[in-house]
Amino acid sequence: MVTRDSVLACIQPVLEPTLKHSLIDLGLVRDIVVKEAHVSMSIVLHPGSMEQSASVEQNLKRALIGIDVTNPHFRFRAMTDAEKTEADSKVQPAAQASEKQAPPVKGHGEGLESHTILHPESGVEFIAIASGKGGVGKSTVTVNLAAALARQGKRVGLIDSDIYGFSVPDMMGIEERPEQVGNKIKPVERFGVKVISMGFFVEDNSPIVWRGPMLGKMLRNFFAEIEWGELDFLLLDLPPGTGDVALDVHQMIPQSKEIIVTTPHATAAFVAARAGAMAIKTNHEIIGVVENMSYYESKETGTREYVFGRGGGGKLAETLNTVLLAQFPLGAPDNHPSEPDYSPSVYKADSEIGKEYLQLAQAVIERCGK
Ligand SMILES: Nc1ncnc2c1ncn2[C@@H]1O[C@H](COP(=O)(O)OP(=O)(O)OP(=O)(O)O)[C@@H](O)[C@H]1O
Ligand SMILES: [Mg+2]
Repeated sequence: MVTRDSVLACIQPVLEPTLKHSLIDLGLVRDIVVKEAHVSMSIVLHPGSMEQSASVEQNLKRALIGIDVTNPHFRFRAMTDAEKTEADSKVQPAAQASEKQAPPVKGHGEGLESHTILHPESGVEFIAIASGKGGVGKSTVTVNLAAALARQGKRVGLIDSDIYGFSVPDMMGIEERPEQVGNKIKPVERFGVKVISMGFFVEDNSPIVWRGPMLGKMLRNFFAEIEWGELDFLLLDLPPGTGDVALDVHQMIPQSKEIIVTTPHATAAFVAARAGAMAIKTNHEIIGVVENMSYYESKETGTREYVFGRGGGGKLAETLNTVLLAQFPLGAPDNHPSEPDYSPSVYKADSEIGKEYLQLAQAVIERCGK
């Protein structure tokens, strides 16, 4: 059920364009009416922002995607002189500083409290890793692509957005928990990648049952409440399949690009095409297809056996009008628990598969124009 609180929580990060502070914090959201799934409200803008009301409306709509609001309605009006004086007094001196593009005075985040990484101007390249079904290696591809991008000097974040079936902390061998700094949470850094996962916030590995609005809120927190710092790439390990959860995540990040993972089997590729169709429906650009578990190569003879069939990745890329970025063989990383930075699923940079991941990272960097 949509509640006033869930609406307020969702739109909290949306900024007044001139004052560069949250509309909510500035008290500029008025007359909120929530009736079942219908929501309407008045938005009071700085006189200098009235021309940008359409983009504010778009940001508000985007912010509400995670909860089941149908056709929200927004009325816009400009501030009166008295309202303007009051709002100005609330934001000084931070707004003046940011208007002049001055660097933040007290380090990261200062003056950018309500700025979220989701903001289209953040310059972060979002890449969601999707698949039509579970178990094809999405998480494996995500953690290894993230590590490979970091190994090439990129600043990389990773959100394990599979909040029911989180697996990234275990796969990367992360045992520590994120620290809280002020009112923000610092992601855990591993192999140069900043990682956030629901797994960090759950005791005893107990299963979680989220209801729709909570789920949206949780994911939004992963963007708004986390001290990401500067990032070049933020990878999202999507939940498996094309269900509601995956769709929510897709819709929440309109600017995201996608990589679709499949196994080489024709049926798997057919199922993965559904994930591709979903990317197209949510208007996400597909960077390419990654085929995982493509073959098994005998260590003795070097011959390749196509255990799970052949050609699925190429066929899928063709169907989606994109490219086949990589084909990874079957093979577990050669890592041992006795090593200092042990991880069960991240291939070493100088291993065969590790080198192939570096090539994938290079291709991704090029295709994103980074
Ligand atoms: N190339 C590979 N060779 C061998 N094992 C692999 C390979 N890729 C993935 N695996 C293994 O297959 C299993 C499933 O992989 P992974 O968890 O990455 O898939 P997933 O698509 O994220 O699954 P889910 O849908 O459950 O999130 C894991 O045990 C993983 O270690
Ligand atoms: Mg997974």
